[in-house]
Amino acid sequence: MTKGGDLFSGLACCAMRRLCTEGARKPAGRQLARGWHGLVAAVVLWAGTVLAQALPDQAPAQSLGVVTCVSSLCHGSIAGWDGSPVLQNEYIVWSRLDKHARAYALLLNEKSRAIASRLNLPEPAHRSRVCLDCHAHHPAESTPRPAPAHSVADGIGCEGCHGPAQRWIAPHTAPGATHAGNIRNGLYPVDQPMARARLCLSCHFGSTDKYVSHRIMAAGHPRMSFEMETFTHLQPAHFKIDADYIRRKGNIDGVRIWAIGQAMAVGTQIDILLDPRRGRDGAFPELTLFDCHACHHPMADTRWKPHTAFGRSVSPGLVRLNDSGMLMVRLMLRQIDPAAGERFTQAVLQLNQAVAGNGDLRARALALKALAEDAARRLAAGGISHENLRAMALALVDDGLAGAYPDYAGAEQAAMALGSIVNTLHKLGRLKSAADLNQGLAQIRAVLQYDEAYKPADFQDRLRRFRLLLASPLATH
Ligand code: HEC
Ligand code: HEC
Ligand code: HEC
Ligand code: HEC
Repeated sequence: MTKGGDLFSGLACCAMRRLCTEGARKPAGRQLARGWHGLVAAVVLWAGTVLAQALPDQAPAQSLGVVTCVSSLCHGSIAGWDGSPVLQNEYIVWSRLDKHARAYALLLNEKSRAIASRLNLPEPAHRSRVCLDCHAHHPAESTPRPAPAHSVADGIGCEGCHGPAQRWIAPHTAPGATHAGNIRNGLYPVDQPMARARLCLSCHFGSTDKYVSHRIMAAGHPRMSFEMETFTHLQPAHFKIDADYIRRKGNIDGVRIWAIGQAMAVGTQIDILLDPRRGRDGAFPELTLFDCHACHHPMADTRWKPHTAFGRSVSPGLVRLNDSGMLMVRLMLRQIDPAAGERFTQAVLQLNQAVAGNGDLRARALALKALAEDAARRLAAGGISHENLRAMALALVDDGLAGAYPDYAGAEQAAMALGSIVNTLHKLGRLKSAADLNQGLAQIRAVLQYDEAYKPADFQDRLRRFRLLLASPLATH
């Protein structure tokens, strides 16, 4: 692609650059190991409420505005406070380092102006709901009118993730306030991985309410790429998982965050595929649900191979679904329950056939979604243990060596997954030498810098070298 080139690839490389095991991260290792099964019961108990809870922009309560949270005695302190259970400098971290604080400002720039004009929007980007719904905390029209202090110009403020504060703001600082009590008052349970996944994905993947369609991408919007664990760190986090946090909220390790994020993304992809408004665009299906590079590659470069990750691919000349999330869900299911992994593989195969006109699309899509949601629930309730981690990383690499990532999107997710797994091993104190593995990850990411220049063979070559590092008895204990 020519015009779209820089937009198309810019996003991925900006995420890619930072996917490694961050050596600088504090080794909260031991704690993490102990808290591994912490509050699993609470997670299960909440799983039901978590899926039912309205997202912050749909919640029936009034948004009060970022200013409500920022006094220096509350969340606007320059340095964290000793003795307070939370850091209290959340506002400073958000306003200085978090891109959500400038998500609205982006809508005023040249790029956004060009996108809006190519789409023929009747209003400029910063006044168009289609853009504001993701680039600001922009409560739906059906919800109470926000307080005067709330402004979309604040971008995605505290309430954009923590929920409109009307009913929880006063009680959350009262003596004896508990996290569960706050949630009952409308605080969004962003600590729970399934709820967090729903929230982040609603903007970073899209939902049936808001979506970056192929038209918007062709007008210049970057391709979306998201992985929950990596992005939780990139944000950067304005919370610290220490003993006190674990006591209040439980400990949910990085790999579980990654895994649940993947399973929920598959569910979201299917919701959009089946949504009559989102899933189609005139005579065509919504193209972003498919592998971009199935279409966007030069004709001289004939790539079709009879086998793909999910067995025999339907036929040359057919557009493949973007299966990057499905690849990851299969990987973890194979670790926790090989039979479930096989059922999942069959369901993906059948969906691919239905997309090609062979079978009932709706029934097959819903069957796959049910398996993905079941996987998310099982993972939230315990799922992967740290004994699985090294095996899972090796399986990921071996899938790649067997040709499972012919598409960029799959390779990109595989690289982010390896980063999350290695990171978790590091935090658990299980790596003897993080430096070698980090270097190996950097080499993998280097071949993913530009999606249009992606060569599966180069990726495999780096995976082969990474495997030697990972399998070495010197790597882990
Ligand atoms: C479904 C949610 C969603 C919608 C709708 C949406 N965006 Fe975005 N946009 C995002 C996300 C998420 C990112 C950041 C992606 C990343 O960095 O991973 C982004 C990134 C961008 C960027 C690039 C930022 C950069 O740093 O280069 C621009 C420009 C932009 N959006 C403009 C728009 C405009 C204009 C509209 C309306 C036509 C719009 N967006 C609609 C979610 C959305
Ligand atoms: C893009 C989403 C997002 C935005 C915006 C956001 N947060 Fe958070 N916040 C999170 C996540 C994720 C967590 C970690 C999960 C948790 O502890 O609930 C968190 C945790 C917290 C915690 C709990 C820390 C603890 O130890 O329990 C506080 C307090 C907090 N945020 C305050 C704020 C404030 C104040 C703002 C606005 C200045 C803000 N957040 C903006 C996502 C967000
Ligand atoms: C209301 C929509 C919305 C929600 C909810 C949301 N984001 Fe974002 N996020 C955006 C937009 C828009 C951008 C682009 C901002 C920019 O590039 O300046 C973005 C940017 C980011 C970035 C920076 C990416 C980069 O390329 O540097 C990270 C990291 C991120 N989000 C993580 C998260 C996480 C984790 C969650 C869930 C806890 C979340 N976001 C929830 C809309 C959202
Ligand atoms: C089924 C085929 C197909 C798929 C899949 C597909 N596209 Fe496209 N794309 C097209 C066609 C056709 C055009 C229109 C080309 C034109 O206008 O000349 C286009 C145009 C574009 C453009 C504008 C290019 C330009 O030169 O102006 C961008 C950017 C783009 N697509 C991005 C994507 C992204 C990102 C994905 C994956 C999320 C994707 N496309 C998936 C077929 C596809």
